[in-house]
This record gives sequence, structure tokens and C-alpha cells, in this order.
Amino acid sequence: MNDAGPVLAVTGLGFSRSGRPVLRELDLALDAGRITLLTGHNGSGKSTLLRILAGLLPPDRGRWHIDGTPGSSWQEVRRSLLQRHCYLHQQPYLFDATVFDNIAYGLRRRRVPRREIAERVARALRHVSLEPLRDRPARALSGGEQQRVAIARAWVLRPRLMLLDEPVANMDKPARRRSIDLINRLAEHGIAVVVTSHDPQHGELRIRRHLHLYQGELSERRLRTEAASASH
Ligand SMILES: Nc1ncnc2c1ncn2[C@@H]1O[C@H](COP(=O)(O)OP(=O)(O)OP(=O)(O)O)[C@@H](O)[C@H]1O
Ligand SMILES: [Mg+2]
Repeated sequence: MNDAGPVLAVTGLGFSRSGRPVLRELDLALDAGRITLLTGHNGSGKSTLLRILAGLLPPDRGRWHIDGTPGSSWQEVRRSLLQRHCYLHQQPYLFDATVFDNIAYGLRRRRVPRREIAERVARALRHVSLEPLRDRPARALSGGEQQRVAIARAWVLRPRLMLLDEPVANMDKPARRRSIDLINRLAEHGIAVVVTSHDPQHGELRIRRHLHLYQGELSERRLRTEAASASH
């Protein structure tokens, strides 16, 4: 699955806010089918980094390779970042519409034929185990269910990289477990996944790499458990 090199590589990524450096000359490469855990204290810049990688926030500097193709600036690669990468906010914004319509939204915007939309959304609903809720108003679902709708809405667009910002915070154990299973399956489908958290303990999440952000710099941390490093 991981034979084509990193889906994304960036070097010398720098970003400041109000003259204060948030990210200092970071180098980062992300491989298909791998889950990377990104930890760091509140305000360390995790969400900032994810938003830059998703094409939502312009950095000050950085050199990019998207699927091996070089781009000299974020502006130059922005369209590719937006098309191939999905950023998921901790509290996802769902439209005031059914679960089905929320998941179909991006496909309709891309003018995918109706029949294909129906098939792909049905597959996505199965993927997140929400078939029985397809016609329910999305905003009437629980927080954990809404999170799964948001993952399905992103997954249906076949992203190469999913950037999940604190996806299991504030979830009870069963919801957390379901989300973790789902995130593991995203990686099995060959998607590169980054998960942010304050907490390096993630139970069954099949983390392949743990990066820690501190004072604007990334460092590699050893994986906590044998189970995590042995899986895959
Ligand atoms: N819109 C903004 N305007 C100005 N500064 C901001 C803005 N958003 C974030 N910052 C600052 O950028 C730095 C990094 O914030 P960021 O939200 O990326 O951190 P984080 O690691 O995601 O934190 P948390 O764990 O609380 O989610 C912080 O110092 C924060 O105050
Ligand atoms: Mg954050």
C-alpha cells in the first residue's frame, strides 16, 4: 500500500502569529495507510499545522511535495491540498439536513452523477455503521454519531490524507472505541491519517508514528506500547 512514497512531504514549514513563531522550520512526511499521532500542549500549534496541511491556512514558508510532485509554495499547491486532504474539526459543522444529504454534499458539488452518489453514500454509511440513521436530521444525532457522519462525509470524497483534530475527545468509552475502529479502517483503506491529542494513550488506535510538537518543533517519540508498534 505504501509503495509510492509519501502522500505529502513538506520541508522548512514556518508560521508565525503576531510576530511569534508557532511552527519553526518543520520537516514532515506522511505515508499512505499510516496513522500518525500528533501530541502537544494546548496552544502548541497542532490545529494550526493541520489547517496548513489541509490548505485552509497559508504558512509563511515551506517547500512541498504532493504525491511526489514538487510545488514551490503553499499557494501553488493549495488546490491539491484542498482536493486531496480533509481536515476534521473536533466539533464538526453539520448542515441542517439529513445524514444522507450531509454525506452527499461534496459529491453533489463535484457534479458526480446521482446514481453514483447514492452508491458511494450507501457505502460510506455502511463504513461508519450509520445506515439506520440515513434519513434522520444530522443535527439531532449524538456528538459521537455526528463525528462519524463528518468522517463519512470526508471519506466519501476519497481523500489521500485525513487530518483529525482531537477526534475522540469528550467521548464515552463505547463511542471512543467505535471511532477508533473507524480511524483504523481509514488507514486500512490506504489513507494517511493524522490524529491530534493531548493524550498519548489511545488504546486500540494503530499508531505507526508519534510526533510531539513543542515550542514550534516536531520530535519523534517512541511508541508507547509493543502492541501499537507490532500491529501491521
Ligand atoms: N485565530 C488566531 N489568531 C491569533 N492567534 C491564534 C489563532 N488561532 C490560534 N492562535 C495561536 O496560535 C497558537 C497555536 O494554536 P493552535 O490552536 O494551533 O494550538 P493547539 O495545539 O491546537 O491547541 P489546543 O490543544 O488547545 O487545541 C496559540 O498560541 C494560539 O493562541
Ligand atoms: Mg487544537
